[in-house]
Amino acid sequence: MASTRGWFESVAEARRRAQRHLPAPVFQALEAGAEAGITRKDNVRAFTEIRFAPPRVASPPGAPRWPARRDLGTSVLGTAIALPVIASPVGVQAVHPAGEAGIARGTALAGTAMGLSEFASLPVESVIRANPSLFFQVHWSAGRQDLHFRAERARAAGAAALILTLDWAFASGRDWGSPWIPERMDAAAMARYAPRLLARPGYLARWLRCGARPDLTVPNMAAAGGPAPGFFAAYRAWQRVKPPSWDDIAWLRGQWDGPFMVKGIMRPDDARRAVDIGATAVSVSNHGGNNLDGTPASIRALPAVAAAVGDQAEVLLDGGIRRGGDVVKALALGARAVMIGRPVLWGLAAGGPAGVANVFEILRAGIDSTLLALGRQGIRDLTPDDVLLPSGFTVPR
Ligand SMILES: Cc1cc2nc3c(=O)[nH]c(=O)nc-3n(C[C@H](O)[C@H](O)[C@H](O)COP(=O)(O)O)c2cc1C
Repeated sequence: MASTRGWFESVAEARRRAQRHLPAPVFQALEAGAEAGITRKDNVRAFTEIRFAPPRVASPPGAPRWPARRDLGTSVLGTAIALPVIASPVGVQAVHPAGEAGIARGTALAGTAMGLSEFASLPVESVIRANPSLFFQVHWSAGRQDLHFRAERARAAGAAALILTLDWAFASGRDWGSPWIPERMDAAAMARYAPRLLARPGYLARWLRCGARPDLTVPNMAAAGGPAPGFFAAYRAWQRVKPPSWDDIAWLRGQWDGPFMVKGIMRPDDARRAVDIGATAVSVSNHGGNNLDGTPASIRALPAVAAAVGDQAEVLLDGGIRRGGDVVKALALGARAVMIGRPVLWGLAAGGPAGVANVFEILRAGIDSTLLALGRQGIRDLTPDDVLLPSGFTVPR
């Protein structure tokens, strides 16, 4: 189906619509990427270096030429999903008035799960009503007592799993210039933003229609009985926290009686440690290129991490997925499923919850047509032989 006013046919088109709709600082905050953006760009480019093995032109005598039906369903962290793609945890404060509830509605429509960041603008209790297939995500952003409280709160709300993200280096100094983001959306901030807002009447109208303004508090990071802190106050508090040891990570895993993912793994030795502390899953990830700039694309680390983990834990990948063929490449190289970050935010900006569902439908159709072209019945049939991997897809062991 070609792009129409209410439908877009590629993730690239979702990004273009988001850029046209969002005020420049909001769009830039989604692009992000540390320093020169070497890793952010490599996340996408590395997929273009992988080729598909040419499919056979005809099936063996007696076998049907085309698979009748392709099976895209799987499960992640104990949750069944209709396609091997879920929404990665992201902060979405100013993208759309529906916020994370919009992502929850869009992912529920697509039949898949979502990660909810502790930096989300809406409480876990309200987001989960729109999609019960929700995995709550924390960083090592506080002391043990506060992290325990956050995890308990998510469990009481019904979160299906806990994600611990470990790869954040507080890298700043972006060559392209970080956008100005206010501490709170008060009258002074609105006045400073006014020219940008007036240049984006559709964006402004959307917020005015629901009588809200972007909320820069992070309710899921409130201390027991305390108010929701501001985004930047919580971020600064995190900067003062000592990075965790594997003993700390084992402790948090012990507090969570359910599926547990370690996100941000880029080395086989770290992946093995995650398995040792009882992780159910690891996500091969570099935070969408927001970590140490100059490290490789996440897909380059996938083969080595998948080999190190074997069948002892689920392996996911996030970073640079922009089409169904990218998903198929990641699955062929050992991922059980993938997570997407920016494409979800672009979809939300472009069309709200329906825009999120649109992004997942693009990927679903792309996975399906790639499987058809490869002559595969379903995602479980994919093997490394389905792709041609150049050199350079390796990391230190
Ligand atoms: C604007 C933005 C905010 C993010 N916030 C979080 C977060 O709060 N927690 C987290 O684990 N990852 C966060 N990430 C990283 C994503 O979960 C994911 O790893 C990354 O976006 C994947 O790359 P992609 O955007 O190319 O799909 C964020 C990424 C972006 C772009």
